[in-house]
Amino acid sequence: MCGIAGYVGPRDAVSVVFDQLKRLEYRGYDSAGIATLQGEQIEVLKRAGKLTNLDALLKERPISENHIAIAHSRWATHGGPTDENAHPHFDEFEQVAIIHNGIIENYQELRDELAHRGHRFHSQTDTEVAAHVIGAEYSQGVPLEEAVRRACLKLRGAYALVVISRTEKGKIVCARNASPLVLGFGEHENLLASDIPALLPYTREVAVMEENTLAVLTEEGIQVMDMLGKPVPIEIQHIEWDVEKAERGGYEHFMIKEIYEQPEVMRQCLAGRVDEGGEIRFESIFSEHVWNEIDRVNVIACGTAYNAGLMGKHLFEKLLRLPTDVYHSSEFRYGDPVLSPRSLAVFVSQSGETADSLAALRLCKDRRIRTLGIVNVIGSSIARECDRTIFTQAGPEISVASTKAYTAQVMVLTLLALYIAQVQETPGVRTRQWVNSLVGLSELAEDCLKLDSQCQEIAAAFDGAPLTFFLGRGADASVALEAALKMKEVAYMPTQESPAGEMKHGPLALVEPGVVSVFGATDPGLADKVVSNMQEVKARGGTLVTVGTEQTRAVQSVSDHYLEIPHTPYPFLNALLSAIPMQLLAYHVAKRRGCEIDMPRNLAKSVTVE
Ligand code: AGP
Repeated sequence: MCGIAGYVGPRDAVSVVFDQLKRLEYRGYDSAGIATLQGEQIEVLKRAGKLTNLDALLKERPISENHIAIAHSRWATHGGPTDENAHPHFDEFEQVAIIHNGIIENYQELRDELAHRGHRFHSQTDTEVAAHVIGAEYSQGVPLEEAVRRACLKLRGAYALVVISRTEKGKIVCARNASPLVLGFGEHENLLASDIPALLPYTREVAVMEENTLAVLTEEGIQVMDMLGKPVPIEIQHIEWDVEKAERGGYEHFMIKEIYEQPEVMRQCLAGRVDEGGEIRFESIFSEHVWNEIDRVNVIACGTAYNAGLMGKHLFEKLLRLPTDVYHSSEFRYGDPVLSPRSLAVFVSQSGETADSLAALRLCKDRRIRTLGIVNVIGSSIARECDRTIFTQAGPEISVASTKAYTAQVMVLTLLALYIAQVQETPGVRTRQWVNSLVGLSELAEDCLKLDSQCQEIAAAFDGAPLTFFLGRGADASVALEAALKMKEVAYMPTQESPAGEMKHGPLALVEPGVVSVFGATDPGLADKVVSNMQEVKARGGTLVTVGTEQTRAVQSVSDHYLEIPHTPYPFLNALLSAIPMQLLAYHVAKRRGCEIDMPRNLAKSVTVE
């Protein structure tokens, strides 16, 4: 959620870290600030609100060129989005300034202890307490990294801390525990950030910090150590993502760009994992005997990733007859779940940093349950802590509303189900035919994108709608949940999602003239049932928008607006394709409603706090 940036080197450091914050804006924030050195003092400039407010302040109080700076965009947790609560924060004697992501769980007791020793606090934040803890250690005359190390041993909770001092001028120290920090290695300059896109304009050589490690950055290099102060090796990755790829690439919003990237993402998901003969293989996955041992799958995720998990459940049960439960991570971690020792816990996560999912993962590991990650961000916590991880290879997803990551997650879950069928030689599952359909899906997705202008027209039907239903049967019912989430997230539209057959058990009472009902009707085997559900709605004055295929075209006669996607031999894949027009509908309704599409109110791209 919060954005972290840091630079040390020959460039104008304040300009660099401000640019880095701009590249992290998608993470969602409500205040921002910068710390740099001016002569013998640390200068801190910070403002509530968007970066434009901080930019105005920088113009009011020009900073003479300097070669070290740290910066932060904050998503309020402890204390509201005010100037005082914005980061960076000073210690008692303004010898250090720090920025921080995460939550210090024991900040209150630390604050009380320090206040008892005469420390004065100017904000309500846990971060300022951490600054005072570091400052108290630093006053002992130890190097900055030692002060930070000692302080970390006193902090409990999740943090990514970044610190500069007014005495050790060319040094940035950072520490990471459960909140992401990435290091950028340059030529006589070094950087850090909370996410890779903020490093790419300056370097492609990056390293994700391991849990419970510290790093010391100077112009000449980066040293990494553990919490005992022992140097640890660090794996530098060369990131292929072009800066352009992490930018909008000519599209009006990241969301529409990422919707249009889905055919390519479908190809990337399969890259290196299926051969011409339709054989499936995964890099570094459990050995084959494990798949014959597993007696249950528990998919654990949040939001869109949860909705993708529901699609995985369809296949694991339908194809493999493998009992599968899908849990909201936040419920799982506090629900004291019953877990079979032979179960597999699958963690689906785009960011790999979702706090609830990470905590659920650690619960499973404590119970010695096998864990498999299906994650997009390389080097993320969930990816590194799962026993095995399959990367979705969807590239950076910037828009808060997840689209291509959803498609990628479902593709990988489909491929995994087929891989298990291949290993188990599950009778009746023709994996090669499935794989052929998967390989051909990206072309059909291109056809779905041609519905964009029709979706733009149909979006007018949602004007003034007090409520929108999303309905379907079978896999279409799972896609309906994801379609509803999109419409909520980007268009702020009240929605009600329900299996179509459930309408008469209550939700139908909500239907009245003006209410729009979006039906997914892509399964020929269920189309007749869906038509009668549609008629129930129609009879009560609802407006019907339907997504069907050539094989379910009968639904068009009952629809007010009809979108047709290509059909495949598998209704499940039809349902997956139907997500594309549903995403386009949400996008165009949001545009009509003048919503802030890539950074919806109240939301963040990665929810790294509970
Ligand atoms: C989806 O559009 C939202 N951004 C949100 O529901 C998201 O899917 C959820 O927070 C899980 O995030 P993750 O996939 O990074 O774990």
